[in-house]
Amino acid sequence: MVAVAILAAGRGTRMKSSLPKVLHPLGGRSLVERVLESLSSIAPERIFVIVGYEGERVKQALDRYSNVEFVEQAEQLGTGHAVQQLLPHLDGFRGDLLVLNGDVPLMRPQTLESLLKTHRDRDNAATLLTAQHPNPQGYGRVFCQGNNLFQQIVEHRDCTDAQKQNPRINAGIYCFDWPKLSQILPKLQTNNDQGEYYITDAVNYLDPVTVVDVEDYQEILGINDRKQLAAAYDILQTRLKDAAMASGVTLIDPHSVTLDDTIVLEPDTIIEPNTHIRGHSVIGSGSRIGPGSLIENSTIGRNVTVLYSVVSDSIVAEGSRVGPYAHLRGRADIGEGCRIGNFVEIKQTQVGAKTNIAHLSYLGNATLGERVNIGAGTITANYDGFNKHPTHIGSRTKTGSNSVLVAPVNIGEDTTIAAGSVITEDVPDDSLAIARSRQTIKASWKPKMS
Ligand code: UD1
Ligand code: CA
Repeated sequence: MVAVAILAAGRGTRMKSSLPKVLHPLGGRSLVERVLESLSSIAPERIFVIVGYEGERVKQALDRYSNVEFVEQAEQLGTGHAVQQLLPHLDGFRGDLLVLNGDVPLMRPQTLESLLKTHRDRDNAATLLTAQHPNPQGYGRVFCQGNNLFQQIVEHRDCTDAQKQNPRINAGIYCFDWPKLSQILPKLQTNNDQGEYYITDAVNYLDPVTVVDVEDYQEILGINDRKQLAAAYDILQTRLKDAAMASGVTLIDPHSVTLDDTIVLEPDTIIEPNTHIRGHSVIGSGSRIGPGSLIENSTIGRNVTVLYSVVSDSIVAEGSRVGPYAHLRGRADIGEGCRIGNFVEIKQTQVGAKTNIAHLSYLGNATLGERVNIGAGTITANYDGFNKHPTHIGSRTKTGSNSVLVAPVNIGEDTTIAAGSVITEDVPDDSLAIARSRQTIKASWKPKMS
């Protein structure tokens, strides 16, 4: 049996932020969500998140994890004090407690599995995840007898100069035999440079303790400041791009592309330079995205091209072409084989298959049939200053250049709207609507000299 405790009560002073540190986003998920996701292959009996600073906000952010129990650490008196808060909750628990820092977001599930396995195989009182770190500055240093028999952890700030030379660091990830740990927890002292209760001291009191070195030290990067947040983003990007390329995605210039790990890129998509794909986005096979595009929480079908455009919270179906310089947002739903061209903005609008909206248009709160042709400069006037109103445009209709469709309005199928019209009344099927002043010709007319 294993229970998990994620320490997430600290403010994270070094972030210089009003947002609790563990809620800072990293590639589409907060730090603490990433820690929760790293438990995917462990299936713990119970998961505790220790909250304190802005605890309500942290709870809210983790709302969707219904199996998480929150434990309040009202005053943050250190990592040991945080774990002490579990004593009433795990009274009588006979299993192991895996303790994770909420600010270590890049852990691989396999690493946690192997920590647990060593802990159980060796029947340890505690097992500690460590790394040989090229830049150990700031981390607790771990001293061992032989290669992995634990002797002592000393926090960076409590280290002598000689101790600081030790490159083996404490990852902040531990597995404890709970009955043994629960005996030690009440005895923790605050005799250190920060005057805090340290969980690392509990490790110092337990026996036997061994350490497990993580293979890739980048996994255990702890986020204490914005620079480390950026470093973690870099590591995450490298992982995501390597995985994308391995699965058959072409990244023309990986360095100028950013990806979230909540996205799906099907094989044979091509991501051009300066392109960013975020949130719950899916890009279908054969599509070419970019250069210079942002796709956010959107589903792009197969064989779509998106060029210098922004697509958010929208859908683009198979074979459509978007851009350059288009903006699809707020549930734009573009059918198959459409063309959405230069300087076109589409919001909360459904567009039927094979419809063209090629230049300089705004369509909002509209539904368009199939094979519609929207002329350059067609605008839906959908907002009267108080409410948004719908526009319906039937299949095969053509709007002339510079038409204004004043909503609410229904335009039938197979109609033509004359260029420059301001349409305020419904247009029946198979008709021509002209709503502009007639042209006047004054023959043999010259300007008079005054
Ligand atoms: C800790 C370890 C250090 C290790 C490093 C790895 C201790 C004493 N030191 O140091 O050996 O190398 O992590 O990243 O544990 N927290 C609480 N309540 C508190 C204090 C902290 O929940 O009262 C949480 C924080 O929100 C954070 C985590 O515990 O998520 C770690 O705290 P932090 O202050 O960042 O510890 P470090 O100084 O990094
Ligand atoms: Ca830390």
